[in-house]
Amino acid sequence: MAKKRVTYVCLECGYTSPGWLGKCPSCGTWGSLSEQSPPPAGESGKRTSKGADPVKLSEISVPSDARIETGIGEFDRVAGGGLVRGGCVLLAGSPGVGKSTLLLQVASRLAERGERVLYVSGEESAFQVKLRAERLGAGGDEIYLLPETSVESILSVIEEVSPSVVIVDSVQTLSTETAQGLPGSVSQVRESTALLVDEAKRRNLPLILVGHVTKEGVIAGPKLLEHMVDAVFQFDGEKGHPYRVLRAAKNRFGSVSEVGVFEMTGSGLAEVSDPSGIFAGSGAGGVPGMVVYPALQGMRTLLVEVQALVSRSYLPVPRRVSVGVDLSRSQILSTIVEKYCGVSLAGCDLFLNVAGGWKIADTGADLALVSAILSGALDVPVPSGFTCFGEVGLG
Ligand code: TYD
Ligand code: MG
Repeated sequence: MAKKRVTYVCLECGYTSPGWLGKCPSCGTWGSLSEQSPPPAGESGKRTSKGADPVKLSEISVPSDARIETGIGEFDRVAGGGLVRGGCVLLAGSPGVGKSTLLLQVASRLAERGERVLYVSGEESAFQVKLRAERLGAGGDEIYLLPETSVESILSVIEEVSPSVVIVDSVQTLSTETAQGLPGSVSQVRESTALLVDEAKRRNLPLILVGHVTKEGVIAGPKLLEHMVDAVFQFDGEKGHPYRVLRAAKNRFGSVSEVGVFEMTGSGLAEVSDPSGIFAGSGAGGVPGMVVYPALQGMRTLLVEVQALVSRSYLPVPRRVSVGVDLSRSQILSTIVEKYCGVSLAGCDLFLNVAGGWKIADTGADLALVSAILSGALDVPVPSGFTCFGEVGLG
């Protein structure tokens, strides 16, 4: 008799293993592997219904209203000019960054433009959402609020209300009868998303899903959602800073280099249409270790201040700390400074920081970081109005 085969799936990243493990070898999370039974025979595999007919690419017409502008410029910029009908967006971000706030504002602006929005809230009650909406000054007759987590009920409400945009907050709370496991488990999240995405494509509706990310920055529950949706928007912000940055990690309908910048205020998120100076710090010239770097973001340039603090260390192994810069990149750069600039950092703690909670991902910032380290180590401030960029190679 064939033994029932059981696999173990990591709830954080979707890694599968034939046996149970205490720590996921893929993402390193402890205790995240959970038992998953295979689907009952006969449920998957054979396709019975007739599929779609092929259509000539040249004969497909694109409707003029294929995109719905939300009216929030910074959001539309990242989306590539507005939400696409039938397009599914995953809005990922850590808890508390402002995802629900942003989407409630998006819903409100869409409703003002005459779109009917269905806002499904699996995390907050209708009353809580209403309170928030009052604070945001959001509202409108065309927003339908649904505190629900069952996908089957959501689908029947979509049938009933026939909205033109659906927002689901969040995928981790959804559950469906067709999958096993608790809400938030890989099988539930995957199946629920698949059902909603299917429905959105069938009805040509834009669908926005909220997904929480874990501390390590991976989309919690399932990294696997990334390829089921058309676009993944990442909403980031540093604790204690009011600025929030929206970027597209993937976008089938637009560029991934554009960013949207918002400021969290007492009455919700405000657009920052000219963010060029906000990450440049106080601009206090004359302080050693501070260098402004022009970061290119889509069609805009942002001035970002990189800061290096070099000080005598009292530890046997000096500290190398970097915030907003990749640690291995900063170690390479500090070694280059030692080797080629003749400045010894031995016995010194080195702290690198990017002002305003900005994160530097491109190597174009190398020269600015090297300048900051040199300026900090030599205690010589760079002239005010000075800026630099460029990649620094190992040679
Ligand atoms: P929220 O949208 O609930 O975050 P998420 O859905 O990503 O978990 O945002 C919560 C935070 O935003 C909370 O810490 C308070 C802050 N906030 C404001 O500062 N101003 C506001 O008007 C609102 C609604 C929230
Ligand atoms: Mg929320």
